Amino acid sequence: QYLDLTLDAIEKGGFDSFMLKEIFEQPESVHNCLRGRLIAEKGHLQLGGINKYIDRLLYAKRIIILGCGTSWHAGLVAEYIFEELARIPVEVEYASEFRYRNPIIYPDDAVIAISQSGETADTLAAIELAKSKGATIFGVCNVVGSSIARATHEGAYTHAGPEIGVASTKAFTAQVTVLLMMALMIAKKRQNVAEAQFSELLYELESIPEKIAKTLKINEEIEKIAHIYQHSSNMIYLGRGYNFPVALEGALKLKEISYIHAEGYPAAEMKHGPIALIDEEMPVVFIAIKDNSYEKVVSNIQEVKARKGRVIAIVNEGDNLISSMADHVIEIPATYDVLTPLLTVIPLQLLAYHIAVLRGCNVDQPRNLAKSVTVE
Ligand code: G6P
Repeated sequence: QYLDLTLDAIEKGGFDSFMLKEIFEQPESVHNCLRGRLIAEKGHLQLGGINKYIDRLLYAKRIIILGCGTSWHAGLVAEYIFEELARIPVEVEYASEFRYRNPIIYPDDAVIAISQSGETADTLAAIELAKSKGATIFGVCNVVGSSIARATHEGAYTHAGPEIGVASTKAFTAQVTVLLMMALMIAKKRQNVAEAQFSELLYELESIPEKIAKTLKINEEIEKIAHIYQHSSNMIYLGRGYNFPVALEGALKLKEISYIHAEGYPAAEMKHGPIALIDEEMPVVFIAIKDNSYEKVVSNIQEVKARKGRVIAIVNEGDNLISSMADHVIEIPATYDVLTPLLTVIPLQLLAYHIAVLRGCNVDQPRNLAKSVTVE
């Protein structure tokens, strides 16, 4: 028994749970994901696993992204990134819906299948379907040699290392990192970005692990906020643009491990429904960083405050305006808009984690959930 406990502690690297360890590993896992692929100083960006079929991606009329759960959220982030940088239309599909819908698939479609485990049954079946219609399939998997990795034509591994916590954390940031590299590669080859802009983005992406490390310093502050909201029954997460999918991911994390009902929405959709839920009992988490929708999100915060909702806002360092209206602000470093999901998701992972721990939940193995869903 003593030995078991010690082994367990060693495996968790001094953390109380795998989930917390994996959240804190993100500076390193994102770094590992970039390693050898991106060297900003040399203007080098290459994904070794994507080469024979690269033209199918470059000249695709459309990209279809498939995934489930958190991987689907990474796909939604990628939709914004690919359309902005690569200028190729993107559709993101739940693999489970796609496979049963008699979808229209053309031979010049490029499909990107995202899966941490590489074993999700719905994603695998959706890949087989797209393959049978002649599309080219690229995989973004974490587990090397997994079924999905083998079923795809080519792909890029996320190299996040083993993820044990059922709720996905470091796999998400690594997936977004790979997808960013793919989009940047396409953008460069299709000459959609100027040299200078490309180079700046490479430097900034290279510095993201450091910025994640800086972001993680807010852990204790988030724990304090978690104490205040641990007994909530509902929570709303709002974000726009690149951070709308991050709002969905924040809500999913909270649901998965704390069993609090949470909804993610694009901030502008608040007026079409969720606003009716707002009263003094309702915490609303805003991703309110200084991107091009900042002003609009600020007015959404005012609307929530006018209805006595409680606002927890993820903001950029030194944001005095939002500090003056929100109940709590969580400051994160600034980065380019397209890279923000890699930072904004971190406080949301931590918030879900601390609330779940305070409620006495098993964060590594939440009830009714499985790490890898190999059945329908
Ligand atoms: C399960 C896990 C989630 C995961 C999803 C997709 O539901 O609990 O954390 O996001 O499957 O898994 P995949 O391995 O395909 O990314």
